[in-house]
Amino acid sequence: MSDWIDFTGKIVLVTGSSRGIGAGMVEAFNRFGARCVVNYVGDPQGRNEADAQRVAAGLKDPVAIECDVSNPASVAAMFDRVQRELGGLDILINNAGIIRDQTIKKISAEDWNTVLNVNLSGTFHCIQHASPMLRPGGRVVNLASVAGSLGLFGQAGYASSKAAIMALTRVAARELARQRVTVNAIAPGFIDTDMTRSMPEEVSKKFLDQLPAGRIGKIDDVVDAALFLCSPHADYITGQVLHVNGGFHMAG
Ligand code: NAI
Repeated sequence: MSDWIDFTGKIVLVTGSSRGIGAGMVEAFNRFGARCVVNYVGDPQGRNEADAQRVAAGLKDPVAIECDVSNPASVAAMFDRVQRELGGLDILINNAGIIRDQTIKKISAEDWNTVLNVNLSGTFHCIQHASPMLRPGGRVVNLASVAGSLGLFGQAGYASSKAAIMALTRVAARELARQRVTVNAIAPGFIDTDMTRSMPEEVSKKFLDQLPAGRIGKIDDVVDAALFLCSPHADYITGQVLHVNGGFHMAG
């Protein structure tokens, strides 16, 4: 990425940034001058907090905040703290997401609800609480997925949540335009992270065979798209879904 991107003076919050794509996002925005909030969800082993501290240790002036995005009270507390300690927000990246693959016949109501609560409701709660504090020229980027367009086998909850995120992106783009904030989604294809490493090898191989680019995606492929959408060069782009998938799915 060239030096025409500069986020000096900007405050960026990336949900679920203790690892994977989210961690790559805060590292990149910080490298280009932004002050970043690393968000993590607590877990009994304290693994996410340890990961978040490790990510934060590599950043300049970071703030790490524990928050479960599926819990509206926890989200309200996170944004209150951002307002109090950082004085506002310029960029929100709704990246936190989970996957619970099961066929429709087998998926439990609990798993269905958990996926929808984290992926879709989490994105909604964060947009709702961030909206009043996003400054003019601000940006929201939501992580959707190619699954939201294609409806991949075994991903009823995940694909539905990601399709709904695309719709929510368009609604938010219309509503936030009046405060000069753009809202877009990135729909990654198959990116090399813990999420995809947890898939069975034959499933990964099947994906790889269908990739015109001939390689699995890197975290930086997604991060670079977010840097562009959050830059002044994307000021007239809002309500869009940017597919980053090596040609796996070519949307019209
Ligand atoms: P990952 O599993 O490595 O990271 C997800 C992050 O979200 C983790 O830090 C996790 O602790 C956090 N998280 C989970 N539940 C949370 C909650 N309730 N509150 C706050 N944080 C929570 O996944 P990866 O691959 O980095 O994915 C990031 C985003 O990109 C997700 O939304 C995912 O659905 C999306 N995506 C990823 C693709 C891939 O191929 N890796 C493809 C398409 C979309």
